[in-house]
Amino acid sequence: MARPRVLSGIQPTADSFHLGNYLGAVRQWVTMQETHDAFYCVVDLHAITVPTEPADLRRRTRVAAAQLFATGLDPERSTIFVQSHVREHSELSWVLNCQTGMGEAARMTQFKDKSAKFGESAASVGLFTYPILMAADILLYQADQVPVGADQKQHLELTRDLAQRFNHRYGDTFTLPDPYILKEVAKITDLQEPTAKMSKSSSSPGGIIDLLEQPGPLRKKVMRAVTDTGSEVLFDEENKPGISNLLRIQSALTATSIPDLVARYEGQGYGTFKKDVAEAITETFTPIRERTEKLLADEAELDRLLAIGAARARAVAVDTMATVRDRVGFLPAPGV
Ligand code: TYM
Repeated sequence: MARPRVLSGIQPTADSFHLGNYLGAVRQWVTMQETHDAFYCVVDLHAITVPTEPADLRRRTRVAAAQLFATGLDPERSTIFVQSHVREHSELSWVLNCQTGMGEAARMTQFKDKSAKFGESAASVGLFTYPILMAADILLYQADQVPVGADQKQHLELTRDLAQRFNHRYGDTFTLPDPYILKEVAKITDLQEPTAKMSKSSSSPGGIIDLLEQPGPLRKKVMRAVTDTGSEVLFDEENKPGISNLLRIQSALTATSIPDLVARYEGQGYGTFKKDVAEAITETFTPIRERTEKLLADEAELDRLLAIGAARARAVAVDTMATVRDRVGFLPAPGV
């Protein structure tokens, strides 16, 4: 039987992924390449929904791709590609824009959060329709599962609604995708503001740990992570959100259950625990950083890997789009 299909994406909007991206999403991408037919993209079309310098975008797109390979995604087993290399993403996005109600798009909470920064009327229309482009990414590949963090759940619901609506209007065309969200790591929080999501756009430098962070600053950030005034390492999200976040991180990185960690640190205070958390993150991130640096040193090779991914992705996307064009009633394009 064919393997189920998985698709996910990540934005090249910073010079490094962060711990939330890694634990909430990318780590699952790596595991799923063993069991799924995997498609993962660097979503540069999404990145330009907010003002972006072309040189930054170019650099960050390559850095993002290099990090994906460096975390263990294998270009033989997974299709890793850049979204704008497959023009069908924009094309399907337009068709889906025309299936989406204004009110439906306006309910997306990420738009509300992100546009609040600029003022709603200064935000681009692209930022408003961003989730529809995301739906196109997923539906083009007929994905069965989409590994993401909790913040993408609402976008996945919209994606399913759009797929269902299209199938109902035009005949069965799209697979309905399921979100794949691991509860324990679905929302890694900011080290300085432990009730808020760790986020490249809103966290302060002290609140966010980059995948490409050097060990010195990394350790400092963990040691300075906001905790409560107590001294017991206990999992209590209400009263100890900072320690609970660190427990989740440590549990995911060391494959140790939270109760086991709590037992291990009984009577030892926060200092010892934080030192071990910093150690576990450094141990995981250092080899990834080193591999990323190596990959970035050979741009031609990186671009060659991305060209292979683009060709494989295109083969699937072109097929889906041909069906969509026909279903919608577009005449066959002459000469294509
Ligand atoms: P992006 O680039 O913001 O984040 C990439 C992935 O990281 C997850 N994530 C987190 N998980 C846990 N804790 C956190 N603090 C945290 N911060 C981020 C995100 O949930 C995401 O899975 N719209 C998407 C990109 C996208 C996409 C797609 C995803 C575009 N097309 C198609 C899936 C399928 C985004 O902005 O992710």
